Amino acid sequence: MALSIQHIAQSNTSDRLLLIEKSDPLDALQLNQEVLNFVKNQKDKLKKELVELNQYDGLKYLLFYDKELDEAKRLEWCRKNGAKINKSANSNGIVTLVLEAKTEASSEIFAVAEGLALANYQFHKYRKDAVEKKNSLQKLEMLVAKLDQKKLEHLNIAIEANCWARDLVNEPLNKLSAVDLAEQISAKFRTVGGKAEVFNKQKIEALKMGGLLAVNKGSIDPPTFTVLEWKPENVKNSKPIVLVGKGVVYDTGGLSLKPSNAMDTMKCDMGGAATVAASIFAVAGAKLPLHVIALVPATDNRPDGNAYVPGDVISMFDGTTVEVLNTDAEGRLILADALTYAKKFEPEVVFNFATLTGSAARAIGSQGIVAMEVKAADMFCDLAKSGNLVHERLVKFPMWEEYREQLKSEIADLKNIGGPEGGAITAGKFLEHFTDYPFVHFDIAGPAFIDKRDSYRGIGGTGIGVRLMFHYLNEWANKL
Ligand code: BES
Ligand code: ZN
Ligand code: ZN
Repeated sequence: MALSIQHIAQSNTSDRLLLIEKSDPLDALQLNQEVLNFVKNQKDKLKKELVELNQYDGLKYLLFYDKELDEAKRLEWCRKNGAKINKSANSNGIVTLVLEAKTEASSEIFAVAEGLALANYQFHKYRKDAVEKKNSLQKLEMLVAKLDQKKLEHLNIAIEANCWARDLVNEPLNKLSAVDLAEQISAKFRTVGGKAEVFNKQKIEALKMGGLLAVNKGSIDPPTFTVLEWKPENVKNSKPIVLVGKGVVYDTGGLSLKPSNAMDTMKCDMGGAATVAASIFAVAGAKLPLHVIALVPATDNRPDGNAYVPGDVISMFDGTTVEVLNTDAEGRLILADALTYAKKFEPEVVFNFATLTGSAARAIGSQGIVAMEVKAADMFCDLAKSGNLVHERLVKFPMWEEYREQLKSEIADLKNIGGPEGGAITAGKFLEHFTDYPFVHFDIAGPAFIDKRDSYRGIGGTGIGVRLMFHYLNEWANKL
């Protein structure tokens, strides 16, 4: 269960976190002289931003933020300190922590709470020592005079959605097949009033989704194609916003088999699916007045007697023929069919999330998202702004026409790989072929899964993109 944050008016709990603007006078803290001197020394001489007071009646964390820092940096600083405090609180066995600020709940205190809650995430369901290892921290309470209830509700939704996306990514293939993924995202989406439909293999065959079927040929499990829709009565946009997510529940590379070390973390190859499912779940949970649709093509990719082979020519859902020259470039094949399917909704824009290329991961690592845009330059600017504020930053790659050259095939309309360089871009260009609407592609191969804790992002799935989408779509709804 993700930590949720509650607003309270009074509290006797003494484990507290006080958020203080760095230049505010310390006298207001009502500390005795000895303690005050200690705090002053820590803060002013030793330049500590976080001071811990271990008093007989509980722990106090004094966190001094700098209002001069630019907004995005300041909020991320708050989240990171939230994560530090999370670690200390858990090692001290704290169960309830009260977050206190003198004035109205500011965006800073929300960000501290966010970092604290996200850092508290654990995935221990398959461990015998899960109970022993469980974090002590179970409650975050915000003790402030005034608080924007909607902002708090949205924060709790974003945390829940992000943690759910992490859960999905962390499930291994033997616990999460394409069918399981479809069932789980549909069931959860229905709990918030969303509409969900899952196409089974028969339906996918009837539709002739040749990309998804080709990748699935080597699998012992059937593929799925899930359609999630949120359309409340007070909907404000006339054309829907469509999200598409890569749902490769495991990527061995297929016959173009990956070396084993590159395969180890490939349960994360449905990270895009997790991102879009959790994003639309958040939109519905917050009852945003937007028409949003999420499409999730899903299968695993593995070698078998019947698997597709390099050299095969396949016919996609839109009739395009593709020469498969590497079965490890499977994501674009299943996504292409979903992008074609999206056309029937005449979307305002399509946002595609995928752990698509090692090339994107090599280019920028796990500190941001490689993104490309077609006919969506203005939206991209707003997306980048949201990305900065939630610290899921975007790095824009070009979609220059010249890159298309690399996808030309001698015997088919396209081939599924480009040359050795610019792989993230040629993958994006491949996807573009199947679109006729404003389109933004997010390649999350770098940040979707990390093997070392990074502040409030623990080892494993990160749920990257969920907070970005939720923030951006919320802004969109506010503008209408
Ligand atoms: N799922 C991988 C991309 C990936 C790499 C995701 C690292 C997460 C971390 C994708 O299907 C893939 O294998 N892409 C190939 C494409 C190549 C064969 C053109 C790649 O990037 O090497
Ligand atoms: Zn692959
Ligand atoms: Zn893949």
